[in-house]
Amino acid sequence: MATPAAPAANGVKNGKGFKAWLYKRLPVQEFVDNQITGYYAPKNFNFWYFFGVLSLVVLAIQFLSGIFLTMFYKVGEATAFDSVEFIMREVEWGWLIRYLHSTGASAFFVVVYLHMYRALLYGSYKAPRELLWLFGMAVYLALMAEAFMGYVLPWGNMSFWGAQVIVNLFGTIPGIGPGLVEWIRGDYGIADATLNRFFALHVVAIPLALLLLVVLHLVALRRTGSNNPDGIEIKEKLGPDGKPLDGIPFHPYYTVKDLVGVAVFFVLFSIVVFFVPTLGGLFLESPNFEPANPLSTPEHIAPVWYFTPYYAILRAVPDQRLGALLMFLSVAAYLFLPWLDRSPVKSIRYKGWMSKVALGLFTVAFLVLMYLGLQPAEGVYVALARIFTVIYFLYFLLMPIYTRLETVKPVPERVTYHAH
Ligand code: HEM
Repeated sequence: MATPAAPAANGVKNGKGFKAWLYKRLPVQEFVDNQITGYYAPKNFNFWYFFGVLSLVVLAIQFLSGIFLTMFYKVGEATAFDSVEFIMREVEWGWLIRYLHSTGASAFFVVVYLHMYRALLYGSYKAPRELLWLFGMAVYLALMAEAFMGYVLPWGNMSFWGAQVIVNLFGTIPGIGPGLVEWIRGDYGIADATLNRFFALHVVAIPLALLLLVVLHLVALRRTGSNNPDGIEIKEKLGPDGKPLDGIPFHPYYTVKDLVGVAVFFVLFSIVVFFVPTLGGLFLESPNFEPANPLSTPEHIAPVWYFTPYYAILRAVPDQRLGALLMFLSVAAYLFLPWLDRSPVKSIRYKGWMSKVALGLFTVAFLVLMYLGLQPAEGVYVALARIFTVIYFLYFLLMPIYTRLETVKPVPERVTYHAH
């Protein structure tokens, strides 16, 4: 297939001036021609397709605000909490930088959860996109580690006790558990050594890994091309010019569309940053405005909202070892989706009623568990957590059965698209 890159690239290269000088030395034009204007994306993208780009936007916000926070943050048991207070009260615009970063952490999970949910809706994890999905999952795991360690850095009381609970979970691993916990902490309790290593990991190691994984995620996406709400492979229907009949150039069509999504995102993001940065304790929990105190446990230890579905699963079981195993499996389960889903169709639009009911129940279970993880682990909350934990796992466990049993609707030849 002839690439559209050649004529344009030659045009610039043969010219004069800085642009020609640069383009002769760097394949900028080829990149734009192949990856942006020459990249054909399905023309029927909808609302759910905003969240990949928004994840990139939030990644940029976190990197930028993080760099500025690091200029003033002072790692160490004796200095960390006070340095965050100093940033909030004394550093010019420090409060803004900090709230951008703390709100950015929650925003990251909002957009990534919606981004992942789109894959559940349209079967984007299915062949040929299994590796794209697995890179996505690796990004998600790195993001969880990044958020957990970042939360410890202000050395507030919830930082301390949250770290205590989560690090102790490794102690449930048979045999190596207790030694592993000590190795992670670098001390006999959560202490200065723990804070120092979490800082190194949060600021250097995990961001590097994240960046690499996001690049791999996007490279894998370029190989398969995007899925779409109909779950039809647009590369299988090419026009006489060799371009997908149901595709449109990413630029200008989706750059402009994404810009609208980015603008709406910034409006909502700014409302939180400027008016409700703690979001009633959801984005910044009140015990974290007190310094870490090993002698005073917060009344309810709860992680930030994005971890609470898994936390509710952990606490639903009386045996801590089993709870930790179930929590681990509740995250790991997503890794197997490409092989659990045996349906001949990708999109929920053409799947049968069983898949629709299963996804509906799973959605409710995830949201209810999220709520329950924020409540104390007692009485009716535990009973409900048990019921919804079972529903959560049944979505995955029964998937090979219901996706094979149900009758699916015929998938159209071409994507369904109605011009507005
Ligand atoms: C920093 C985090 C992430 C970034 C920056 C990112 C970026 C992107 C972008 C730009 C796209 C193409 C546009 C779109 O389809 O919305 C995409 C597609 C995709 N991503 Fe991600 N992603 C991230 C995390 C994840 C995670 C955690 C998963 C799943 C575990 C995931 C799974 C997918 C899938 C399956 C597609 C293809 C969807 C389709 O074509 O229908 N991504 N990603």
